[in-house]
Amino acid sequence: MQIDGDGKSILRVVPMADEREKQRIKVIKDGPYRVTGGLPLYEQVIVTDEDGHSKELVDIKEFPRRETYILCRCGASKNKPFCDGSHREIHFDGSETASRKPYIEKAEVFEGPDLKLTDAPEFCDHSRFCLRAGGIWKLIQKSDDPEARQAAIEEAMTCPSGRLVLWDKKTGKPFENEFEPSLVLVRDKQKSCEGPIWVRGGVAIESADGSMYESRNRVTLCRCGKSENKPYCDGSHWMNSEQKLQFQKKWGLDPNKRQ
Ligand code: SF4
Ligand code: FES
Repeated sequence: MQIDGDGKSILRVVPMADEREKQRIKVIKDGPYRVTGGLPLYEQVIVTDEDGHSKELVDIKEFPRRETYILCRCGASKNKPFCDGSHREIHFDGSETASRKPYIEKAEVFEGPDLKLTDAPEFCDHSRFCLRAGGIWKLIQKSDDPEARQAAIEEAMTCPSGRLVLWDKKTGKPFENEFEPSLVLVRDKQKSCEGPIWVRGGVAIESADGSMYESRNRVTLCRCGKSENKPYCDGSHWMNSEQKLQFQKKWGLDPNKRQ
């Protein structure tokens, strides 16, 4: 059974500013995400290059437009991507543990000749777009080379979680796509699983306690129920605890000390 938040599923035509105001993802305590404001919902698959590195996300489905819909957050629904009430049966603990500190205050800075990279590893959804051509951290070191610069820009702009933001040192501006506010269900074919919900275009995200998360152009939300950084994805849809531990060690993350 597909549960609709208010039982209405008719797409209404409303003025742009009004529509934007209503566009929101509300985290429900120990339950799903309620999505309002007619936000488009797509499904995309990660496409890899000849070396097996993630390269781009390609549309495989567009869901019919609905004013309001409820997306599963616990991973147990039999009607995915929508919630069917299973979170109650499994006694889902959806506690939100993510830090509320703004991204820029958390990010580490890596500088190259022409580009600056800000990097907040705790947002990583482990979709691996940053590993092509030697990896973005190496590429920015030679960002005065046009080819390396272009690859670094592409990788940062594709990073779904917004962990990585690349800045032009001359203009001081970040490289960002102009996304229509929308949600994408990511499918990770290489890892044979469903990935996170990629939220694009600065959609407002409201915590179960009524406070707001920082509004960003790119973030990824957990939909398997296993993230230790809820509501954000932390790669738990394919990573085991040993792999997560290794990543935390590598980047100096202490999940018990999130601020
Ligand atoms: S979320 Fe961003 S930083 Fe993490 S693996 Fe994907 S591209 Fe790399
Ligand atoms: S959150 Fe309701 S079934 Fe998963």
